[in-house]
Amino acid sequence: MELTWLLLLFSSFFFSITTAQDDEVCSRPELGESIKLEGLQRYFSFGAVVVLACKPGYTPVQGPRTIVCKDTGTWTDTKLKCIPVQCSYPDPPHNGQLHYENTQYNSTVNYTCDEGYFLTGASSAVCLVDGTWSAPEPQCKPISCGPAPIPQFGMIIYDKIIKVNNINYGTSGTYKCHPPFALFGKERAECTATGQWTETPQCKEVSCPPPENIENGFMSISQKRDFAYTETIKYGCNDDYVLDGPHIVCEKNGEWSQKPSCKAPCSIGIKRGRILYKGRKLWIEDLKPNQVLHGETVSVYCMGGDSNCGYEVLTQCLDGNLQIPECFDEPSAAQYSLDSGSLPSEIQQC
Ligand SMILES: *[C@@H]1O[C@H](CO)[C@@H](O)[C@H](O)[C@H]1NC(C)=O
Ligand SMILES: *[C@@H]1O[C@H](CO)[C@@H](O)[C@H](O)[C@H]1NC(C)=O
Repeated sequence: MELTWLLLLFSSFFFSITTAQDDEVCSRPELGESIKLEGLQRYFSFGAVVVLACKPGYTPVQGPRTIVCKDTGTWTDTKLKCIPVQCSYPDPPHNGQLHYENTQYNSTVNYTCDEGYFLTGASSAVCLVDGTWSAPEPQCKPISCGPAPIPQFGMIIYDKIIKVNNINYGTSGTYKCHPPFALFGKERAECTATGQWTETPQCKEVSCPPPENIENGFMSISQKRDFAYTETIKYGCNDDYVLDGPHIVCEKNGEWSQKPSCKAPCSIGIKRGRILYKGRKLWIEDLKPNQVLHGETVSVYCMGGDSNCGYEVLTQCLDGNLQIPECFDEPSAAQYSLDSGSLPSEIQQC
């Protein structure tokens, strides 16, 4: 009996201890990532009051900030919210760009510079606990090439007036060679984004052999010598020949440009008939000498309709060759001398 009582007492005591632990203890509350709970305590007894706070980098909104361990082993509700601190909106650097997802605590902003610019300062910054950025906005400075290399016997003419110690990306210019040197390579040059100038051309001496004369013509020079790059020679033609083409130029390849030629005059290959030449209507025997110059035009007369009217047909002298139109019908000597009034040039015009 005594033993039973003792056993009962003991078991109830044991029971009361274990249930007291189950009923009256709250485990460490599970809080949002941004909410702070001091200490490492894992269990809290019934009635324990805990004051919550926001982690650094977060600011509290709404309360209450205390929670109490209830007899059910759970905690009272809290409406505390901790929102991340906001950093100011960063400005993009001049000639650069800004990359960020947001501007709240712990977020990163990255900076890049436009092509031809390099970054000085930090290329990224993090929004700190106190709402400031970890680094100031960097600067984008233009990449400098320095003065363009100058070829021997040459020069560069920059597109804009620039300071020699301030020749940056995008600066451009044109190379020229001092006469009589000829430029080989690219005339235009530019300071590139890598800080290098585009290729430098070369200036080389070029000469052309003494020029040759042209048939039926003459040159504007008499001495036989070599000529320098870009020098020119004019040609002329002998009497009645016509120059066809421009003067010649000593070219970069050491050769002359294409020579002009002298084109021959033409004689009009009809013995009897009337022509229209320089606005005048002439009998062929009155054209003295029987010759027109290269490029000139002449009309002859053909019979039209049912042989009751005449019309002009134009033809041109081309280097000694003047084609008489097929419709032209040369009259017989008798018709020409006795009945010239019946020729197509004399009757009514179509
Ligand atoms: C900033 O740069 C880092 C490293 O290059 C990259 O991981 C991150 O995604 C970038 N952030 C943004 C917002 O562009
Ligand atoms: C901040 O960001 C880093 C990496 O982006 C992360 O490892 C860290 O846990 C963050 N800290 C907080 C307090 O959010």
